[in-house]
Amino acid sequence: MRKILRRLSAFAASVLAAVCGPALAAGDTIKVGMLVEMSGTFASFGQQISTGAKAYMKRNGDTVAGKKIELIIRDTTGPAPDVSKRLAQELIVQDDVDFIVGFGLTPNALAVAPIATEAKKPTIIMNAATSIITTKSPYIARVSFTLAQVTEPMAQWAYKNGLRKVYTAVADYGPGHDAETTFKNAFTKLGGEIVGEVRIPLKNPEFGPFVQRIKDAKPQALFVFVPAGELAIGFMKAYTERGLGAAGIKLITTGDVVDDGVIEALGDDVLGVVSTHHYSVAHDSPENAAFLASYAQINSTQRPNFMAVGGYDGMAAIYEVVRKLNGKIDGDKAMEVLRGLKWTSPRGPILIDPETRDIVQNVYVREAKKVGGKIYNVEFETFPAVKDPGK
Ligand code: PHB
Repeated sequence: MRKILRRLSAFAASVLAAVCGPALAAGDTIKVGMLVEMSGTFASFGQQISTGAKAYMKRNGDTVAGKKIELIIRDTTGPAPDVSKRLAQELIVQDDVDFIVGFGLTPNALAVAPIATEAKKPTIIMNAATSIITTKSPYIARVSFTLAQVTEPMAQWAYKNGLRKVYTAVADYGPGHDAETTFKNAFTKLGGEIVGEVRIPLKNPEFGPFVQRIKDAKPQALFVFVPAGELAIGFMKAYTERGLGAAGIKLITTGDVVDDGVIEALGDDVLGVVSTHHYSVAHDSPENAAFLASYAQINSTQRPNFMAVGGYDGMAAIYEVVRKLNGKIDGDKAMEVLRGLKWTSPRGPILIDPETRDIVQNVYVREAKKVGGKIYNVEFETFPAVKDPGK
């Protein structure tokens, strides 16, 4: 009798192994490989994005469909396409990740697109904002924004509010070029005039001479995009030191320049600056309150910014994919889930466009103001459900 039982259980074990073997062998973990800038000038990008992702996991637990979600963070060190490519390959080959996520900077996202295609890895852009990125691989979806998406409303708001002669200044790479072209097209179409334009290098920019040239041209307003963080601080310092505000040149920007992460460091000179963007810490909603509380549990000294929301929402998208696919990740099926996915983000309602895999969202017009002694971008007008123009 005992012998029969032993034989039966051995048989049962072999049947179980045959049925469940591959799933068990694949592991009970979903690996999310994150490529972000954790050191150098752009270190705040990786800090914000990874903290945002961890905030989502803190709030929602780290188990989905019976699988443990593991975040593996790698430092791209800055705008470094070759480093990003190598790290993406390592994440796929050595770590066997199920998703690739992150990307503060456009050049790093573009470098990884062919690898995502070849490996069929669902790749989620949590910040990089040049329009073209999502066209570079069918395995890329974006949960952040595009410069074109937030710039067109700025041009429309500027014209509607009486501005006619504007100078543009942008960082000299993908997102800056998109911002420049979009502002020019939208503003001149309405009847406005671009009285001068300048492109500022991404690496080691010297803002002083550029800003002086703009002051001498005496435009009515200056439209600016530079990447958030250190560069925004450098630009605002030159703007104030060279007295553009005092000379009556109105400053209008994308939200990157007055980013929540550094707005307090910009000081009172930033008060009154009008910007357009998809997220402000001051956004009044229960989803944002939950995000802020969760972020503060991980980092209580740093104010989150739009990149942190990108990290948070990127994880929300991944959790949904894992749930819908019941823990069995397949590149094509994952993209099918991502296309058309919609939910309420800390920034408001968002949708991944089923055709372009790019994000559709509200763009808010905000003014830098003091609230309770602290500086915030206070939203006062909404352009609802904006798509990336030209897609
Ligand atoms: C980008 O490189 O795409 C980028 C970086 C920082 C920003 C916006 C866009 O604030």
